[in-house]
Amino acid sequence: MTLKYLLTGVTGGLGKEVLSYFVTNVPASEYAVASSNESNRQKYEDKGFAFRHVNYDDPQTLEKAFEGVENLFFVSTNVFDNKRRAVQHQNFVDAAKKANVKHVWYTSLAFGGLESQSKVAIQQVHYETEEMLQTSGLNFTSIREGVYVDAFPLFLNWYPDTETVYLPSNGSMALTSRKELGEANAKLMIAGGYDKQIVLLTTQESVTFSDMIDEINNTTGRSIKLELVSPEDYVRLNSTNDQGGKPAQFFETLVSWYDGIAKGEASTTHPLMKNVLGREPITPRQAIRSFLTENPNYTWHQNYFN
Ligand SMILES: NC(=O)c1ccc[n+]([C@@H]2O[C@H](COP(=O)([O-])OP(=O)(O)OC[C@H]3O[C@@H](n4cnc5c(N)ncnc54)[C@H](OP(=O)(O)O)[C@@H]3O)[C@@H](O)[C@H]2O)c1
Repeated sequence: MTLKYLLTGVTGGLGKEVLSYFVTNVPASEYAVASSNESNRQKYEDKGFAFRHVNYDDPQTLEKAFEGVENLFFVSTNVFDNKRRAVQHQNFVDAAKKANVKHVWYTSLAFGGLESQSKVAIQQVHYETEEMLQTSGLNFTSIREGVYVDAFPLFLNWYPDTETVYLPSNGSMALTSRKELGEANAKLMIAGGYDKQIVLLTTQESVTFSDMIDEINNTTGRSIKLELVSPEDYVRLNSTNDQGGKPAQFFETLVSWYDGIAKGEASTTHPLMKNVLGREPITPRQAIRSFLTENPNYTWHQNYFN
């Protein structure tokens, strides 16, 4: 029996939005949702969704779940350990190949735009995964997702009571709404095409870190300052008593991000998202203002490392 779409990552922020678009635009018989946590089955089945157990660490679950799947929405995992992530993604690609999946839709990342030269640590497994998909012979689309504007507090390591933000550079980023990315991912997959292609989904503007701080100050009446410091001081100042409990190692990893951002690797914009949505995507400034208007103490889960 064939299944037109299998959606992984639906318990997460991006996949939840993809699912939300499917609910109103695709017949329920054409798709199923997946999670690594079998205990989620009941919750989704109670809502009328077909559920498949998919754990990227367990190839057996993948082979079983991918049987008969035509379009497989492959959400990259949320672990910071690149080695573990690469194994999980290879398991995924191998199982998709075995199950003869017709088209894999992979959620990559936008560092470096449509080129593949970024040295940002987190981008490396995305490049590796695109290579895995390429060499597998599977049909695929790699969607390089704009960096989430929702995560702006993480890039500043800003908490509601932070008065000075310490960063190693003041680069600019085309920060993109995760909610709108979900909608655009769903529309792209439903429209089909983009065979064996890498595409880029971003908002149409970029903001610097000082722009983000201006938005926080203007929207919430704060007087936060940005101080540019050496990479060593950036790690030391942010890891000492970090409220999110992130260790120095986390900030050391992020130094490569700031290098890439300073080189403009996160500032590339592309019209595809606007075309797919059929409207202008929300700008980073509008999005930051909106989060902070709704909640002046807006924050972002900052615990990827744990
Ligand atoms: N573009 C950006 O700025 C940005 C920012 C952060 C992250 N990301 C990447 O984009 C992905 C999606 O973003 P998000 O905001 O939706 O992340 P999220 O809210 O952390 O959700 C991650 C999803 O990955 C699934 N997952 C994790 N490990 C898994 C495993 N071993 N097997 C099967 N599923 C697994 C989780 O499902 P279950 O727990 O139900 O299995 C969850 O639904 C992230 O995982 C990360 O790779 C991108």
